[in-house]
Amino acid sequence: MAQTGQEFNVDDKKLHEIVHEADNVVPRPTPKEFFEKQPHKSLQNFSDYEKLYRESIENPDKFFGEKAHEFLSWDHDFHKVQWGSFKDGEIAWFLGGKLNASYNCVDRFAFATPDKPAVIFEADDESESRILTFADLLREVSKVAGLLQSWGVKKGDIVAIYLPMTPEAIIAMLACVRLGAVHSCIFAGFSAGSIKERIIDADCKVVITCDEGKRGGRVTHSKEILNSALKECPDVEKVLVYKRTGNPEVEMVEGRDFWWQEEADQFPGYIPPVSVDSEDPLFILYTSGSTGAPKGVVHCTAGYLLGAALTTRYVFDLQPEDILFTAGDVGWITGHTYALYGPLSLGVPTIVFEGTPAYPDMGRFWKIIEKYKATHFYVAPTALRMLKKSGEAEIAKYDLSSLRTLGSVGEPIASEIWKWYDEKIGHKCCHIADTYWQTESGSHLIAPLAGAVPTKPGAATLPFFGIDAVIIDPTTGKVREGNDVEGVLGVRSPWPSMARTVYHCHQRFLNAYLRPYPGFYFTGDGAGRDHDGYYWIRGRVDDVVNVSGHRLSTGEIESVLLENKKVSESAVVGISDDLTGQAVIAAVQLKEPELITDDESLLALRKKLRLHVRKVIGPFAAPKTIIIVDDLPKTRSGKIIRRIIRKICSGEGDSIGDTSTMANPEVVAKLEAEVEQQFGVKN
Ligand code: WT7
Repeated sequence: MAQTGQEFNVDDKKLHEIVHEADNVVPRPTPKEFFEKQPHKSLQNFSDYEKLYRESIENPDKFFGEKAHEFLSWDHDFHKVQWGSFKDGEIAWFLGGKLNASYNCVDRFAFATPDKPAVIFEADDESESRILTFADLLREVSKVAGLLQSWGVKKGDIVAIYLPMTPEAIIAMLACVRLGAVHSCIFAGFSAGSIKERIIDADCKVVITCDEGKRGGRVTHSKEILNSALKECPDVEKVLVYKRTGNPEVEMVEGRDFWWQEEADQFPGYIPPVSVDSEDPLFILYTSGSTGAPKGVVHCTAGYLLGAALTTRYVFDLQPEDILFTAGDVGWITGHTYALYGPLSLGVPTIVFEGTPAYPDMGRFWKIIEKYKATHFYVAPTALRMLKKSGEAEIAKYDLSSLRTLGSVGEPIASEIWKWYDEKIGHKCCHIADTYWQTESGSHLIAPLAGAVPTKPGAATLPFFGIDAVIIDPTTGKVREGNDVEGVLGVRSPWPSMARTVYHCHQRFLNAYLRPYPGFYFTGDGAGRDHDGYYWIRGRVDDVVNVSGHRLSTGEIESVLLENKKVSESAVVGISDDLTGQAVIAAVQLKEPELITDDESLLALRKKLRLHVRKVIGPFAAPKTIIIVDDLPKTRSGKIIRRIIRKICSGEGDSIGDTSTMANPEVVAKLEAEVEQQFGVKN
């Protein structure tokens, strides 16, 4: 058994059936059919991909050394391309090199093409939309950087950013980076508890936020939520507040809180960027793992930026004349890499959308694409599922002919959604790029190069340059060579944009990614490689649930539920959900079940528990259903068997199998009855 210490749910037989079923319906398109759509502008054909891929694996130093010179501007050249390995757990790229990421994303284009749009802001209320050119961006970034510098922010300091999807988020991030400071973005949907945890973990002294946000026609209370988090963050000295709505009721703390618009204007429109080492951290981004508190994943400057630029160019085939619309939030890695660093490092305008796909109606995305003639659109399948359900009337209203590449990210895209995307949005003229990657990978791991790698609906296709993907047998820990194999997905050697560590806890980094299968990076996902060598991602094999593209740790939700004094044990599982991909289901056991028996008190308790999770973590983490039971299924050694809860909640009670090793097999029937009563699933 591999040294993971975790319970994996890779059901080999079932997965095999899926691959072959998919293969039967989806033959690989012939290159001719495929290239007739729209050719890749940087590569000639599929053999170009194969050739470059081979080079990147056989001679990564040469390949990435050349690309680093081609794509990035250096203040000082590097003397060694890479160092370290998965065995020793230390990784470094472009040693000796010096650069600045804000220079690479702003200055070099501001000097060459000052009037070119850089950030196209589509506000929730369309009339508030505006465009920042590269020259505007340089000025705004410099002003905020000057202000932060006057507050004492310097190279290596970590600044928390709690801002919704607005140009200010991008300006704030680049302003930190200009000084060599490290940004730690906290997703605007997080509640006070999660904000506090992140600010304290990274010991942030400065936070950047706004008074309120606007989303889907509603106001979100950013400053109020932050204020309540900051009650427990005594070390925060300064808060910069962008006035977005101007609500006079918003509470400002004298001496600590300052208005962005009033302060930043006092600083010059140009301040020089601070040169940092390749391996100096660029940002921290927290993500959920299978155990413990969220991990502050650390990305370093040169390798990350190169990965962002290369994947944006080659996977999306994004060229200088294009316009990218990434409908993801800067609070997550998708927003970091493909709304900011990828497009801007290539000098390509990025559309920053503040609102939701459903406001004011289901045609909002299509309207934005038409309005700005976006060439590239990148979104999570969860939004596509919702839009598909809403019918075609809204789509038909808009001209989507500017589109060339349609990306998908965050969760597996079912083949029927893939086909809908291809036919209804792409009108069969676009490339569909299902991009598989993670917060930790920094940029795409497995994805087709649009226009050069033939696709199959539902497959992430082939690895990106430098990604030596492997399928590992989870029971033996051995690599499964050849095609037609299933297992867990790993990577054999380091790539430039991978995370280097977990902030102030390198052991957690080693434990989560490098120790489970020594010598390999472990992704946490199950995957299959079909007879063409194409990869199909199956989903997480650990205790991570993916709800609408949000990555959640079941353990984290369980501990929040345990904060209620009435709860003695809790088990959280993810089950399939038509709309959100997966849904969170919680089973809780009460300390004194005899005290709460009537329907009304049970209902009140469920409501209270859901609200508590909303408040502590965020609305998206609240369990869809809470089952209250006298006893949870356990092993003889007292471990909760989550697999049984998952099966029963999914209506697969028949396939639980042998229960004789359980400590309490009688709970199965009770759990089934409770599940049926709660959400009508019959086993
Ligand atoms: C996990 C990473 C990648 C940016 C947004 C999410 C799942 C991601 C795909 C895909 C199947 C996918 C994996 C991965 N995932 N993309 N194209 N097909 N699964 O980043 O929050 O770090 O989550 O999302 O399970 O491990 P994240």
